[in-house]
Amino acid sequence: MGVDGRNRGEGEGRLLDHRQEEITAAADALRAGGLVLLPTETVYGLGADASNPAAVAAIFEAKGRPRFNPLIAHVADLETAARIADLDERAYALAREFWPGPLTIVAPIKNTSAVCDLARAGLDTVAIRVPGHPVSHAVLEAFGGAVVAPSANRSGRPSPTTYADAVSETGDKAAAALDGGPCAVGLESTVVSVLDGQPRLLRPGAVTRVQLQQIVGPLAEADDDAKRSPGRLALHYAPDAPVRINAKAPEAGEAYLAFGDWPESAQVFNLSPSGDLAEAAANLFAYLRAADRIRPSAIAVAPIPEDGLGEAINDRLRRAAGFVG
Ligand code: TXA
Ligand code: MG
Repeated sequence: MGVDGRNRGEGEGRLLDHRQEEITAAADALRAGGLVLLPTETVYGLGADASNPAAVAAIFEAKGRPRFNPLIAHVADLETAARIADLDERAYALAREFWPGPLTIVAPIKNTSAVCDLARAGLDTVAIRVPGHPVSHAVLEAFGGAVVAPSANRSGRPSPTTYADAVSETGDKAAAALDGGPCAVGLESTVVSVLDGQPRLLRPGAVTRVQLQQIVGPLAEADDDAKRSPGRLALHYAPDAPVRINAKAPEAGEAYLAFGDWPESAQVFNLSPSGDLAEAAANLFAYLRAADRIRPSAIAVAPIPEDGLGEAINDRLRRAAGFVG
């Protein structure tokens, strides 16, 4: 696995032939109203046909997700996105720069769009993204329409970044499940709204603040958390053990998520021995899960620098620890 968005077994071009059957089957399952576990470059998603309210309701049920929390519509390309949402000049600029890839754009819904009310939690906006992973891209092309897909964890738990974790979270609810290898990015997409011409960062993620500013200039200040992105509850991404952040060292009984040079031991999970933020992001959720499995009194996490991807990593860690970001 690398941080360039590519995954095992697939190159830039066509998928391996044996996968085409799986992909067709997944698209058929979506058409039949089933849920599908899908790999993306960020995290695994649990997908459903965005135009089918019963299928969308099944997602909320499977995750135990509050219905006021809207879902992201995933599409194969910008043209399909533009049929669903009113993308202004700045939204287009962002889409052209970062799609396919780990950016979600929130824009006004078009009244001709098939994304159902439930998927949007009744809002007159829609969150939309074109994922970069070859397997999800192939499924979206075969399906043709929009697929809503939240992260495939049960609500409030860390997002799954490996096939095994996705299957253990919600696999029993899925009619089809596709293995796309470990997620190269490992953190959810950045969510930016572009409403009334004003880009606003709703959720820090894989595309950094600086990268966004290079395309659209300054971002609007965030409102209060709940209004920014309805699903951003305080406690989120949480493993079973309590999480203690900014810990310079572990205490007895704690597991430790180190960052940078740190002595190895059975209690230590080093997010990146070389202090690389992209590597730490890719390992974060899998290591929170691995640390949880040794049943520690708590999971202590080393301080992570706030620059670049660090903003998104620290956002998830504050939520895992029970603080509002
Ligand atoms: O990387 C990702 O974004 C993954 C993969 C599977 O694509 N998906 C994901 O979905 O993280 P989910 O449902 O876990 O998070 C979607 C976020 C939530 O915080 C939700 O509140 C916000 O997007 N959102 C969705 N629609 C919105 C809207 N119309 N306005 C504001 N925020 C919205
Ligand atoms: Mg989620």
